[in-house]
Amino acid sequence: MRVIIVTDKNQMGRVSADLIVSDMKRKCPYTLGLATGSTPVPLYKEFIRRNHEGQIDFATVMTFNLDEYVGLEPTHDQSYRYFMNKELFDHVNISKKLTHVPDGRARDVAASADAYEAQIRDVGGIDYQVLGIGSNGHIGFNEPGSSLSSRTRKVRLTQNTIRDNSRFFARKEDVPTEAVTMGIGTILESRKVVLLASGANKVEAIAKAVEGPVTATVPASALQMHPHVTWVVTRDAATGLRLEWEQA
Ligand code: GLP
Repeated sequence: MRVIIVTDKNQMGRVSADLIVSDMKRKCPYTLGLATGSTPVPLYKEFIRRNHEGQIDFATVMTFNLDEYVGLEPTHDQSYRYFMNKELFDHVNISKKLTHVPDGRARDVAASADAYEAQIRDVGGIDYQVLGIGSNGHIGFNEPGSSLSSRTRKVRLTQNTIRDNSRFFARKEDVPTEAVTMGIGTILESRKVVLLASGANKVEAIAKAVEGPVTATVPASALQMHPHVTWVVTRDAATGLRLEWEQA
């Protein structure tokens, strides 16, 4: 397990882009697992810059996002499909047909979640999965108590997550209470994983996930079981870590 402590969000974006881009050069076509939230935005900015400078080509890249709110149209400005278009897909030479986000409007969410799993399997799995972390230790929308072998499914959001995410909505009441998320088991099957964390509100989640016991109570701690995981953490989010980790 590798933990890289970086000075700020910009360095977090550069370091994580370096990891992913060097892996992308090894294999074509390539499958990326992507995350939403404010944390991966500096990474997406790096992707866009390097794409414009000709350092990376997205023409043969396929993507699978971790999660989506149940009930929001893809055109809703808080849907994760909308976020991905705005923060990455609209600015690089990716084919939108090759980008996948779980369907929060499916009539049969369970069947659509199973189909999402099958699609990932059919393309040979995810090469590199990008993750953020919730202040309660969630990954994707796998809230505390999610089975460590869970698959893509519909979940109920905790009050903690609804409160955290209400900053993006006009009113707390507007935050959806359910989501579809890849499972922890799904995430653990990715060949490589990078988890990004920044900000003082992630100190406790990072300390528990990186150095605490592996437990369903802290979903991100399951990554300790992954053979190829890198945590890229800004200094202000890393103040709870006690072991000697790499400084960028
Ligand atoms: C949401 C997403 C997570 C993300 C988390 C943290 O709950 N489902 O994938 O990691 O927010 O968001 P932020 O990066 O804005 O702190």
